[in-house]
Amino acid sequence: YFSNDIPKGLKSVPGPKSLPIIGNVLEMGSKPYLTLTAMRQHYGNVFKIRIGMRPVVVLSGSETIRQALVKQGDDFSGRPNLHSFSYINDGKSMTFSTEKAGVWRAQRKLAYSALRSFSTLDATTPEYSCMLEEHIVKEADYLIKEINTVMKTEGSFDPFRYIVVSVANVICGICFGRRYDHHDKELLSLVNLSDEFVKVTGSGYPADFIPVLRFLPNKTLKAFVSINERFKNFVSKIVTEHYATYNKDNIRDITDSLIDHCEDRKLDENANVQISDERIVGIVNDLFGAGFDTVTTALSWSVMYLVAYPDIQERLYQDLKEKVGLDRAPVLSDRSNLPYLDAFILEIFRHSSFLPFTIPHCATKDTSLNGYFIPKDTCVFINQWQVNHDPELWKDPSSFNPERFLSADGTEVNRVNGEKVMVFGMGKRRCIGEVIARNEVFLFLAILINNLHFEMFPGEPVDMTPEYGLTMKPKRYHLKAVMRAKKE
Ligand code: HEM
Repeated sequence: YFSNDIPKGLKSVPGPKSLPIIGNVLEMGSKPYLTLTAMRQHYGNVFKIRIGMRPVVVLSGSETIRQALVKQGDDFSGRPNLHSFSYINDGKSMTFSTEKAGVWRAQRKLAYSALRSFSTLDATTPEYSCMLEEHIVKEADYLIKEINTVMKTEGSFDPFRYIVVSVANVICGICFGRRYDHHDKELLSLVNLSDEFVKVTGSGYPADFIPVLRFLPNKTLKAFVSINERFKNFVSKIVTEHYATYNKDNIRDITDSLIDHCEDRKLDENANVQISDERIVGIVNDLFGAGFDTVTTALSWSVMYLVAYPDIQERLYQDLKEKVGLDRAPVLSDRSNLPYLDAFILEIFRHSSFLPFTIPHCATKDTSLNGYFIPKDTCVFINQWQVNHDPELWKDPSSFNPERFLSADGTEVNRVNGEKVMVFGMGKRRCIGEVIARNEVFLFLAILINNLHFEMFPGEPVDMTPEYGLTMKPKRYHLKAVMRAKKE
């Protein structure tokens, strides 16, 4: 956009000079969260780079981000039409598609209410407070047994490989009413191969901005297309089974409830028929996809921080022993008595910032922010990593210190500081799985720490450098897990 197109009274968004064709791709490098955080020092909270031919506005600073995503929420609630997004659920994804606001909003409302009702549903026995708790406690039990078995047979284990099945099973339980064995080949091959998915969907993937890169041999993009296809086939097989066994009087899970919604709508003459059944039932695709990789990543980081900080691991264990005891499994309602565990989780979210940028946004109309003109359809990156490492918000942001989230006397979580951490986005596109995610991370972690002691093998240094992507994962290590004695 040219400076003479800018409405009177508004300024042009500042930013570095860019090269023809590739734009600022080289400066962004392999860790865009660091380079774009450094650029903010020069250009401020609203600046512009070019990726390929396309201008991208990068937002930093929690107040500026709040202004855009909350106060001017509608202006910034779109998704850009990126090439890679068109492969996700055949371009019909609620999360990634560039669909008009009306369709996305209706899908989001349905998704939100389905998630809420199927996670808070009564458990099958009064032992558990809700369905979500029952799924997590049972899966955590299986997980500990699996880790024990593999420790006995192989002497080490890869945390991601086992955690991912347990977490996938929780969301499978809610969405599909079923779980998979830890050695189920179909599920394993699907959930263990999400590296290319997060690489391509990470903000600034060059082939989305420089078309020629799509036509050169590109292994990552090829793998990405194939992952999406397999993902869709996996879910659509389950959906077909649900249609075949659907019974209006027995809604078993989220898939059934979405089918039910489509059926209801057919009877209702006033219904809004704009959204196809495919887009409605396709919501389970979004929920399943968003529900396993994120939480697995959070838990994988948690285990890495436990081995990197053995003193913290010990304090967490002692706390659990004292507040929950060793005769029963921790449950969700223990959370308020375990402020140090809550603080540890908040510090993992902040320090790792494993979702460094939200999913890219896009301006839905010509708008302005902090006095700068932002034209319709501009792609917008939200730098969550910057907010979580902003020296104006955090003392010594690069050090890992859960205590920053405790009250002065250590008996409570400091809610004000907790709310400054930004990992779930903000405003209209804010994560709809946040409550479920926080509960899963808390309860899986409490049960793991209560039962196992995690260690690195001696002499192996812990490298905490993440791999860049939509979610950033720790390097995959083989660790040691030692069973805690149950009676002391
Ligand atoms: C979107 C974070 C777990 C469902 C998002 C976004 C972020 C996020 C940053 C994008 C916000 C934006 O574009 O501005 C996380 C983190 C999680 C987590 C850090 C775990 C620790 C979950 C779970 C579910 C879920 C468990 C579902 C069960 C979704 C959906 C969207 C979303 C459907 C798309 C919303 C939309 O585009 O309107 N999440 N999430 N997330 N999340 Fe999560």
